[in-house]
Amino acid sequence: MIICHCNSISDHDIRSAVDWMRASDPDTIITPGKIYRALGKRADCGGCLPVFLDTMKSCDTIGVPMELRGLAAHRHKDISDERRQKGNRVS
Ligand code: FES
Repeated sequence: MIICHCNSISDHDIRSAVDWMRASDPDTIITPGKIYRALGKRADCGGCLPVFLDTMKSCDTIGVPMELRGLAAHRHKDISDERRQKGNRVS
């Protein structure tokens, strides 16, 4: 099925690119931009991105490397801890 009509990229192309990137670098973060580059193409209108992302997410090998998981949650916790320490206490 064609996912990106501007560049004639199919779901098979996306899955193959994801599998290839994961096999060549197990620690890489895979983004739509990297997939376009791997396929030698550039995004044009961007209208395909929602379906493009859904196709990426359906790949078995898309997973985020273990050491990079939960970074956003830790960052949010650090920020909220800082705010708590600087809070104004009325006693
Ligand atoms: S449909 Fe993919 S860039 Fe336009």
